[in-house]
Amino acid sequence: MTGAPTRLTRFASCAGCAAKLGATELSAVLESLARSDTLRTDDPRLLVGRDTLDDAAVFALSEDLALVQTVDFFPPIVDDPYLFGQIAAANALSDVYAMGGQPLTALNIAAFPADELGPEVLAEVLRGGEDKVREAGALVVGGHTIIDREMKYGLSVTGRAHPAHLLTNATAQVGDRLVLTKPIGTGLVTTALRDEVIAADDAADAIAAMRALNGAASRAALASGLTCATDITGFGLLGHALHVARASAVTLRIHGADVPLFAAVKRALDAGVHTAGASRNARFLEGSVDWGNATDDQRAWLTDPQTSGGLLLAVPPSRLERFLARVDGAVSIGDVIQPGDAPVVVA
Ligand code: CO
Ligand code: CO
Repeated sequence: MTGAPTRLTRFASCAGCAAKLGATELSAVLESLARSDTLRTDDPRLLVGRDTLDDAAVFALSEDLALVQTVDFFPPIVDDPYLFGQIAAANALSDVYAMGGQPLTALNIAAFPADELGPEVLAEVLRGGEDKVREAGALVVGGHTIIDREMKYGLSVTGRAHPAHLLTNATAQVGDRLVLTKPIGTGLVTTALRDEVIAADDAADAIAAMRALNGAASRAALASGLTCATDITGFGLLGHALHVARASAVTLRIHGADVPLFAAVKRALDAGVHTAGASRNARFLEGSVDWGNATDDQRAWLTDPQTSGGLLLAVPPSRLERFLARVDGAVSIGDVIQPGDAPVVVA
């Protein structure tokens, strides 16, 4: 490549998982499909379908083997193409881990502005994705690329799981503790980085977390006998907490002060950084969250859209200490309480 390095985020109108269609809009679409019976299935092989808004579909092949399937892709969240590929792949693989699955194969999905970017840029993105998939012990076995004005990349991942040992969002029990395995704030940090409010070094912790696989946390969850997990992505910590609360028919109480943040989050907020995704998330959460005494800053990071975020797990108190010791970076951030007026409470 010649000349100034390409700034990949210039080719994104909306970065990373912040580009996700809002939960409000998505619900409206799915509800209209539900009314027309399109979503209805009573096929017993479908162990996890679309009704609980879980991370991936799970389809039983036999009594001890199930397929896990998911797809995720988005515009560049960082300028470096190789890094973008790694982050997009870690994010796509995460939905398999969030179900307690083991990734097997992946298919690339790429949209590329071939008039504006050289083929070496796409090659680097794909190399980053491929390396990350290999790190997960899986194989990239194909893909599809289209020409588009906006660059986008991601993968459809297929994994395997044991039908009796799944992690779903529907089994949180009153009394469980809530554990989060990565800090919060990738939307704010990467937007601040793109707008040059912070330097690359300031975003190093967020970038390292986004490219880190959730595999170890997922395996530790299964080994600890846990059953309830989801990964935190575009709908933010509270948006995904709400999905767990609804699917499990409980209330999730988040201790605002205990939620770990990336180093540059507060600096980004002080500089006035905000994302459209957070506003969409706040709208979706309206009427479902008891915000208590939460400050504006707390609201901002609790609704911040995450890219390749950590797992949020419901952990029985008797297993908490061992699980926290097993998983690097895991922090207890709240608990599961009797269903009340609001499915999510910030304390
Ligand atoms: Co997910
Ligand atoms: Co997803």
